[in-house]
Amino acid sequence: MSLDETGKSTTDRERRIDIDGVSKIYGIDTANPVRALEDINIDIYENEFVSVIGPSGCGKTTLLKCLGDIIQPTNGEIRIDNGSAADARQRNQVSFFFQEDVLLPWRTVMENVLLPLEIQGADTSDSAVRQQAKDTIETVGLSGFKDNSPQQLSGGMRQRVALARGFVYDPKIFLMDEPFAALDELTRRKMNRELLRIHQEIQKTTVFVTHHIAEAVWLSDRVIVLSPLPGEVHDMVEIDLPRPRNEDTRGLQEFVEYEESLTETVMALDDE
Ligand SMILES: Nc1ncnc2c1ncn2[C@@H]1O[C@H](COP(=O)(O)OP(=O)(O)O)[C@@H](O)[C@H]1O
Ligand SMILES: [Mg+2]
Repeated sequence: MSLDETGKSTTDRERRIDIDGVSKIYGIDTANPVRALEDINIDIYENEFVSVIGPSGCGKTTLLKCLGDIIQPTNGEIRIDNGSAADARQRNQVSFFFQEDVLLPWRTVMENVLLPLEIQGADTSDSAVRQQAKDTIETVGLSGFKDNSPQQLSGGMRQRVALARGFVYDPKIFLMDEPFAALDELTRRKMNRELLRIHQEIQKTTVFVTHHIAEAVWLSDRVIVLSPLPGEVHDMVEIDLPRPRNEDTRGLQEFVEYEESLTETVMALDDE
């Protein structure tokens, strides 16, 4: 059993997400249905950082889309804070984050970060609303760039703007689908550091899909390995590395062992 920084066991913590017997079949009424997910059961707790890894096409994105109420499961149920995934989305409790940062090029950094608030009907000329956006931009370390346009920023900086836009409205849950996959290794490492810092600072329940096993180990409280089609939970590993984590964490023997054993698990699945 692992303990969080308050000394509570993870099982004492409040459950935020309950994935209960979820299956997804695409094209169920067609000649070629695809069984993407099969009987997924996962509980995710308050402030927990959970990564989902597994071979390409094993249903990781499908699972995240079900959580974000972008698609619906064929069977089973998703509960978020004892409501449905749709309730959570409608109450702006969930933030979805993709690989492409999809910033609006004609808007400044500030205007991009204000966008979700604007969509929610906030008055973006209000000084409190603007301050909220400014604080968020500061959190991602871009204070000096709030009036720049996205084209003037590097790939890593654009991702940080996207991060700021993702949490400016204080969602409870972050769903991230391979957010750093398009970045070079160095930028990815920087973004990992940024995300870790933000997670430690603002504590969001996060479900993070990645191909990158070291990234998953470094960031997560728990790593879930999905098996190839149909995606089933093949393994669930508690990452019992101390927090706060930093670059030194990567040098720990336990870190290397987690990384190696998870790599072996995923490679064996890939060969199946
Ligand atoms: N809209 C769709 N219609 C039919 N099949 C789909 C659709 N979306 C995904 N799939 C299939 O479902 C499986 C899981 O896809 P996905 O969740 O994207 O996997 P991953 O993110 O793990 O790579 C894949 O075989 C994919 O081809
Ligand atoms: Mg995917």
